[in-house]
Amino acid sequence: MENICAFTGGGRRFSQLILARRDTSNSVEVADRQPLVKDRAEYERLHKWSVDDPQDFWAHMAHDYYWAKKWEANHHEYNFDMRKGPISLSWFKGGRTNLSYNCLDRWVAAGRGNQVCFIWEGNDYGHERTMTYQQVLTETCRLANWLRGQGVRKGDVVTIYLPMICELPIAMLACARIGAVHSIVFGGFSADALAQRIEDGNSRIVITASAVNRATKRVDLKAIVDEAIGKAAKEGYRDVQRVLVYEKSALPREQTPWVLGRDAWWHREIPQRPEYCEPEWMDAEDPLFMLYTSGSTGKPKGVLHTTGGYMVGAGTTCKYLFDLRPGDVYWCTADCGWITGHTYLTYGPLLNGVTNVLFGSTPAHPDAGRCWRIVEKYNVRVLYTAPTLIRSLMQFGDHWVTQHDRSSLRILGTVGEPINPHAWEWYHQVVGEGRCPIVDTWWQTETGAAMITPLPYAWATKPGSATLPFFGVQPVLLTDKGEEIQGPGEGILAIKAPWPSMMRTVYGDHERFEMTYFSAFKGYYFTGDGCRRDEDGFYWITGRVDDVINVSGHRVGTAEVESALTAHDMCAEAAVIGVPHAVKGESIYAYVTLLDEATPTAKLHAELVNLVKSQIGSFAAPDVIHWAPGLPKTRSGKIMRRVLRKIAADQLDELGDTSTLAEPQVVDQLIASRPKTL
Ligand code: PRX
Repeated sequence: MENICAFTGGGRRFSQLILARRDTSNSVEVADRQPLVKDRAEYERLHKWSVDDPQDFWAHMAHDYYWAKKWEANHHEYNFDMRKGPISLSWFKGGRTNLSYNCLDRWVAAGRGNQVCFIWEGNDYGHERTMTYQQVLTETCRLANWLRGQGVRKGDVVTIYLPMICELPIAMLACARIGAVHSIVFGGFSADALAQRIEDGNSRIVITASAVNRATKRVDLKAIVDEAIGKAAKEGYRDVQRVLVYEKSALPREQTPWVLGRDAWWHREIPQRPEYCEPEWMDAEDPLFMLYTSGSTGKPKGVLHTTGGYMVGAGTTCKYLFDLRPGDVYWCTADCGWITGHTYLTYGPLLNGVTNVLFGSTPAHPDAGRCWRIVEKYNVRVLYTAPTLIRSLMQFGDHWVTQHDRSSLRILGTVGEPINPHAWEWYHQVVGEGRCPIVDTWWQTETGAAMITPLPYAWATKPGSATLPFFGVQPVLLTDKGEEIQGPGEGILAIKAPWPSMMRTVYGDHERFEMTYFSAFKGYYFTGDGCRRDEDGFYWITGRVDDVINVSGHRVGTAEVESALTAHDMCAEAAVIGVPHAVKGESIYAYVTLLDEATPTAKLHAELVNLVKSQIGSFAAPDVIHWAPGLPKTRSGKIMRRVLRKIAADQLDELGDTSTLAEPQVVDQLIASRPKTL
């Protein structure tokens, strides 16, 4: 731990260094340094500049990073209106840079090579490891050289299916170093979901691990990769040439399934590669990565992010959201398989030169004090997590938290779903001792970086509101007809103009990108969220307005779950909705109509749940299956989900108008057939 202490102050406590102390409406906030943005007036000034002259504002921010070639004077262009032609946008046009260089070499060159870059905490107490910036750079270069040796070139897609170990961000950085496009598949996704993503990305290389222990369960990642490649091959995709496997003690090499000639061990291949790899200087608009996400229709979309804008967006937001300075100890609990793990676990923090905690277990393993022990042990300054984790740990009682010293904490962030005031208060009062601002960040896979968020210490927050737009972000609330609502009100959240880290397209399907985000309201980016604006101009996200369910902060498309359920021979039809859940935020409730000859049984129930697990992943499994005699449909055949939601929530007096249903009696049948557990 020497290295951490050398640069972060180690066990030093900061209380004597307090510089600013301000009372706010809901908290006493204490900073040990001057915050980057001091108050709302300064924010308003910067926000105005960012909106009035985005090109100039973002060029100013981009100077924080190294560019092999500077961008052109007119580097930003866009069209957000389909009526005027294809949707397009560019930032930093003409500029050339490299993400891995900015995340690693820049800090080594600045004398921070011995600073700890990653502190890894594995599944159990005692599983820990640290890597310095120099070590991460060397390992990144070695892997990048190996990838080049396999013929991977700029623009090629590499699929990564790794658990939360240092090698996961290293694999991302190695791809970025040579201009390969990484496509990370969260380790909780099934073989089917992985196969679909490998195929869609035309990936020739997969990077994985032998297995991983998660709490008390072992997940055989390599076996899942083999199964996925087999499934893809059955569908005619036979292009996976190499599978690189990191050996984890959860499954030693002798027991790991192996395909001779195709599979390669990390520990044999990587250490012998040269320690330095020349970065590929990428055009600002060259792709950096893609990440699949669910929408209301069809298969998951490969959201594509590019180099320059994403770098500046990720780096700038991370710096301002968490008031970061190089050497800060920072911990984001996300998995790299989701966008938060891309922007706020890998790129954003490393672009800011922090010491980054990487957590490879589950929050309550082996006990409910695990997270707070990590905070104490490493003097974590910034903690960024999800409401679902907060709610799950709240249940165990305050003593698990209070027995650990949390005086190093300065800023507490949340992301992924609306945070209910009760969880917000607990996070603020119990975890943060009433001292740390809560930074509730609203954003999406598509936006690449935080969009609506408080800036710590700059203004008083309100529990449950993400407060104000970040620099350069112009949110609007629209009516169903697409008219902008002025002042306080509630509507559909849309964004008026581009920001640097915005997605550029859906991989391989630009039309789908345009139809999903730009066709409903011409001239705006459609977020899919509902939102309210209060008299202070604060934004309150009210949840999705489309058929997307948010389970523990994970996006699940209703269509995906329905298609998994209807894959069962006995299932005639299925409709899936989200219902409120005390810990997960929302859980999945499935209405299933069986074929006439089928009888609902516990066995059939288990088969249906298992189908969802095998086609998507365990996190998407329905909590409830309601054997439905029929589904409420309009005369044109559209399922009335509103009615299904009300029945599931037991709000029978709020069913609303059902007169347009083709068969109104279905509603009574559904009420009568509700599962007994409800
Ligand atoms: O509904 C919003 C919700 O999560 C959606 C985006 O999900 P995903 O692309 O998986 O990205 C999650 C991490 C950025 C949004 O459309 N959401 C995200 N953050 C918040 C939120 N809802 C309310 N408050 C938030 N802070």
